[in-house]
Amino acid sequence: MITRRHLLGQMVAGAAIAPVLTFGQEQKVVPDSLKRVAEGSQVAATVHSVASQGSIEIMRKGGNAIDAAIAAAVCLSVVDGHNSGIGGGCLMLIRLADGSVHAIDGREKAPASANRDMFLRNGVADVKLSQDGPLACGVPGMIAALHSAHSRFGKLPWGDLFEPAIRAARDGHPMSRSTAASIRNEESVLKRFTASREVLFKSDGSHYAIGEKWVQADLARTLEQIAKKGIEYFYHGEFAARCAKHLLEQGGALTEQDFASYRAIDRVPLKTTYRGYSVLGFPPPSSGGLHIQQMLQMLSHFPLQKLSQEDGGIPFYHVLAESMKLAFADRAYYLGDSDFVEIPAFLTERSYTDGLAKRIQLDRASAVPGHLPSKSKEADDGKKHTTHMTTADASGNWVAMTATVNTGWGNKMIVPGTGVVLNDEMDDFSISPGVPNAFGLIGSAANAIEPGKRPLSSMSPTMVLDAEGEPRLTCGAAGGPRIINATLQNIVRVLDLGMDIGEAIASSRLHHQWQPDVLSCEGSLGSVYKREASAENPILNALKKIGHDVKISGSIAVAQGIERLPSLNPGESAWRGACDPRADGRVATS
Ligand code: GLY
Repeated sequence: MITRRHLLGQMVAGAAIAPVLTFGQEQKVVPDSLKRVAEGSQVAATVHSVASQGSIEIMRKGGNAIDAAIAAAVCLSVVDGHNSGIGGGCLMLIRLADGSVHAIDGREKAPASANRDMFLRNGVADVKLSQDGPLACGVPGMIAALHSAHSRFGKLPWGDLFEPAIRAARDGHPMSRSTAASIRNEESVLKRFTASREVLFKSDGSHYAIGEKWVQADLARTLEQIAKKGIEYFYHGEFAARCAKHLLEQGGALTEQDFASYRAIDRVPLKTTYRGYSVLGFPPPSSGGLHIQQMLQMLSHFPLQKLSQEDGGIPFYHVLAESMKLAFADRAYYLGDSDFVEIPAFLTERSYTDGLAKRIQLDRASAVPGHLPSKSKEADDGKKHTTHMTTADASGNWVAMTATVNTGWGNKMIVPGTGVVLNDEMDDFSISPGVPNAFGLIGSAANAIEPGKRPLSSMSPTMVLDAEGEPRLTCGAAGGPRIINATLQNIVRVLDLGMDIGEAIASSRLHHQWQPDVLSCEGSLGSVYKREASAENPILNALKKIGHDVKISGSIAVAQGIERLPSLNPGESAWRGACDPRADGRVATS
């Protein structure tokens, strides 16, 4: 019998064969060379080796997984600042070794002067204003969230956690492929802003080459100040004053008072059971936890492993796509910041999700009318943005954190003299009913702009516990709404198809977000992710035949994850970390 592992082996060797159609038949199917995995009693998985190594350095010094995650997040501000940073926000899910779980919301919030019409010009929504420039910026929340986690759960002094990041900024680090590409993508807008021009380009306006040393002296000084003076410097001190002054001069709305009133918020994690496991998700203002819960509850009605082995796996992909469509229709209408709007409790009740599951027909794609009249024609462009990092330590502490400045380089403005990239998170609001945001998402009044409100997010740090309440796996991703569906697929590939976390993350993905009514598929769907997808994939043709409007997409999300392994030493946890082959991340261990 030709097994999936055998076929994958041939694909890797470049043999011309049909795409693999046998998901879930065998566990160790992805060659180790294609998995980005590593095992150890302390693990950090991020999209950048400097951040993963910095995180492990902190654990080697005696820090725990919480310290290590903080160090990684700050480091990524330096080495991967187009995706996330201290000028943006984050959602942090923590499970301590004592079994307690904490969800810390460091999502940006709208300034006090914000209002629902602020991006309308002559009655028409102008998405350029919500994506680029001074009005696009919400009050940054990352530093407050990191501080909230550290003050309760950290071990090492706050200042120590900044050392790897300060070193990378002050001494320089090689310009990465991904940062260089994002600078090129956004070049024309970045060059409109003086400090962005000065920091991201050479003095003659030319680009840093990939691998060339890039020093960020202003950012190093800002991080040194936050390390020394704490969050006061950021929210009540010099940074807040400088940032607010600069934004106001440029026509923005964010004030020093907005900084001073920012607080990270403790949320109650969402919890559902799936195949005997507990799945813990992040509640609103994330939409991820709630919709992953809805989809898992729908999928619990289907024998996914069996479906993955029938008809080349077509029924498996089909039910995934249908559950995505149904959940995202609810996202568009009901979801917003739960401190401002009531999220209906029925959305996660079994009676409701059982009803949704009944609407899934195995032989054809359904039309989901949803609750909003407008139709989005804009598809997510699949560009990379946002980041997911995860850490675990030998004592059993565990962190899943997704962080973002929203689209690449946020609002494209670096605050002069600080090196800090600001976010464009205001675009995650529904700036006008039915007007798609940068991800092609539409929303309703529930996600309309209000002063102090947090925009709806797709960030989905997720943890799965076994029947004894012990860690099984954690995962999350980057990539706008694709985060939610990538996280779902990673969970079912581990729990239903028996893959390890590295195999799950390396497998090709699909994505549906209700509107536009398009099923985005990686061209290698049915096998391990390949950048160069085959033009003729029978799985995609079969999905088209049952009514899906299939579009081949570039990479769908960038995920990181950790799963628990049987412990080798009594009293010491062991972990397998995994990074996504769609990006350049590395797992660091010790
Ligand atoms: N800014 C992307 C998200 O939070 O969903």
